Amino acid sequence: MRSSGGKESRGITPNRLSLKRVQEFLADQPLVIGKELLFFASVDSTNTMAFERAAGRSDGLIILADSQTAGRGRRGRQWLSPSGSNLYMTILMKPSLLPEDAPILTLMAAVSATSAIKNLTTIPASIKWPNDIMVGERKLGGILTEVKVRGNQILWAAIGIGINVNITAKRFPEDIRPYATSMRHETGRVQSRTLVVIEILKELDSWYRILLAKGKEPLFSRWLIESSTIGRNVRVTVGRASFVGVAEGIDDTGMLMLRLRNDSIKKISSGDVVLLREATA
Ligand code: BTN
Repeated sequence: MRSSGGKESRGITPNRLSLKRVQEFLADQPLVIGKELLFFASVDSTNTMAFERAAGRSDGLIILADSQTAGRGRRGRQWLSPSGSNLYMTILMKPSLLPEDAPILTLMAAVSATSAIKNLTTIPASIKWPNDIMVGERKLGGILTEVKVRGNQILWAAIGIGINVNITAKRFPEDIRPYATSMRHETGRVQSRTLVVIEILKELDSWYRILLAKGKEPLFSRWLIESSTIGRNVRVTVGRASFVGVAEGIDDTGMLMLRLRNDSIKKISSGDVVLLREATA
């Protein structure tokens, strides 16, 4: 655990999720996202709830919950979601993107969450492709983007963001304890969930506007800066197959470009990345 603290919590009671404060922030800002916010003390999953509440909503509905009873991670994994400590939020968006461009939304949320954490604290957060928010080799948060498609268009995208804010190490199950961390654990002090929510929404709104106005280039450049994957020797597991090589970059749909030992490039749309210490050559 690092001893350096986060920045001042600006008069907000640490850990209490102040809905009022989030609503005031949303009312004060002409944001594209967040015209409506729904808060639940407990839901099965904020992503599921977002789809259930999608009918008739505009772009940018926010679903925020204090706890989830069936929080999901990628590949059907469970996402630990106890009450009173972490952040579970889904933004429902109607982007005019093709279904194959959906990973861009994950990259956008990962950039936004990482930037927000760095704006608020001295935590050296980085992104492990495609959706992990990391501190070194420990996971601090993750993004789960799920889409409903009609024809060749995304009808709705639920961008789910989970950040371990104040959970203590002893509350992680033993099998994930060595690989998980929280903002509190990293800074040695309780962090304001309210400020984390607000900062992520600010960043997300700003990156969404940039995406709409300038396309994906600026977002991809920033993703590369925040990434801890690119340039590294990695093993990528895709189902039962695994590939070892150098992560060279991402293509224009967010697929990982892996240079294999035979020097060919393999593009991977989804998989689990392990950073390798040894050279692969
Ligand atoms: C992952 O790293 O596998 C993705 C984790 C995503 C967790 C968040 S918490 C809010 C939203 N609701 C869910 O059920 N999952 C996402």
